[in-house]
Amino acid sequence: MKLQTSLVHAGDRKRLGDHIPVTTPVYASASFFYERLEDLAEVFAEERAGEVYSRISNPSAEALEEQIAALEGMDGAFATASGMAAVHLAIMTALLDRRQAIVAADVLYGGSLELLASVLRPSGVEVRFCDVCDLDAVRRAVDEVRPALLLMETLSNPCLRVADLDRLAEIARGAGALFLVDNTFTPLLVRPAAHGADMVIHSATKYLAGHGDVLAGAVVAPKERHDALRQVSRCLGPAIGPFEAFLVMRGIKTLPLRMRRHCDNARRVAERLDGHPATRRVLYPGDPDHPDAEAIAKLFPEGQKGGAVGVDVRGGQEGAYAFLDGLRLAATSASIGDLTTLGLHPASATHRMLSPERRAELGITDGLVRLSIGAEHIDDILADLEQALEAV
Ligand SMILES: Cc1ncc(COP(=O)(O)O)c(C=O)c1O
Repeated sequence: MKLQTSLVHAGDRKRLGDHIPVTTPVYASASFFYERLEDLAEVFAEERAGEVYSRISNPSAEALEEQIAALEGMDGAFATASGMAAVHLAIMTALLDRRQAIVAADVLYGGSLELLASVLRPSGVEVRFCDVCDLDAVRRAVDEVRPALLLMETLSNPCLRVADLDRLAEIARGAGALFLVDNTFTPLLVRPAAHGADMVIHSATKYLAGHGDVLAGAVVAPKERHDALRQVSRCLGPAIGPFEAFLVMRGIKTLPLRMRRHCDNARRVAERLDGHPATRRVLYPGDPDHPDAEAIAKLFPEGQKGGAVGVDVRGGQEGAYAFLDGLRLAATSASIGDLTTLGLHPASATHRMLSPERRAELGITDGLVRLSIGAEHIDDILADLEQALEAV
């Protein structure tokens, strides 16, 4: 064999011994090989389980999918290359063969709002936004639109409102719509399937991966949706890469430890900043006076209300910028769920596409800063926030 040929083949396609790796390796192969063509044909025909091509399935992705399905208490998951790919996959699957109409929460992650308003609506999908904390408004919208799906987030971004999932699931079911819940902000804390969600979405970029070093997502669903999800997924091609799947899987192993720390630290931050002279109000789901306190008590475990805190800083945009620029430990970032404390100004970042009037209606004020509280020592977080507020 010539050297050129051997460089292409040497070391590959080895039979493994009878050992089993303790953690799932990175299966960095675009396709999979069978010694008999008959075996490949059977896998292609889905007559037996196996891998063919990594856009369709890959062992690293499948291991992660099993783990995420366990996290959400559902039959299976489809891991994707980003949270937006998961939102898109879930929506396209829900619309398959059904009325091209969606009712969605009016406060969603900016990318999801943009997908609905600037991509799906111009493509002919009817999209109606409504306040999902107002159940009568949801009933009216669903009666008028007769949607194929109702879409919302467990903890709305960036205003941290919480709607009653069980009641919304009833409304969706009554109208024959699928109920799709983005659980990115509250993994482990809220399990939307237990409250009637038909499909659950994650941006795994956030708490699931947890270290701010990977983009990923997932759609979690019961068995009866898997064929449709598989079909749409293999056509759209949102598959996660094996290295990214490995990183997210490693992250989820420590999710319970990290979530507890994020929640404890966020509670301490909300308590300290509430009434601070440089802030107008603090948005935090653990606040006993939160407008959605009833839904929060029903959905969240005692003492764990998530790692996000909203702070409406005095002085509008100028105050918010001075606060964010003054942070020394925390980073200004569009993400959440990292070990590092992160701050963002939604009005000029994730929600800049909304008009100032619309932002005001939704409570996204010019002074609002969204904090994702990290896992650092609470004394260092508080000291950093307090010194930055002095600049306001
Ligand atoms: C609630 C929510 N859903 C979806 C996404 C999109 O995820 P990704 O950035 O991984 O595409 C985000 C991103 O911030 C988000 O906050």
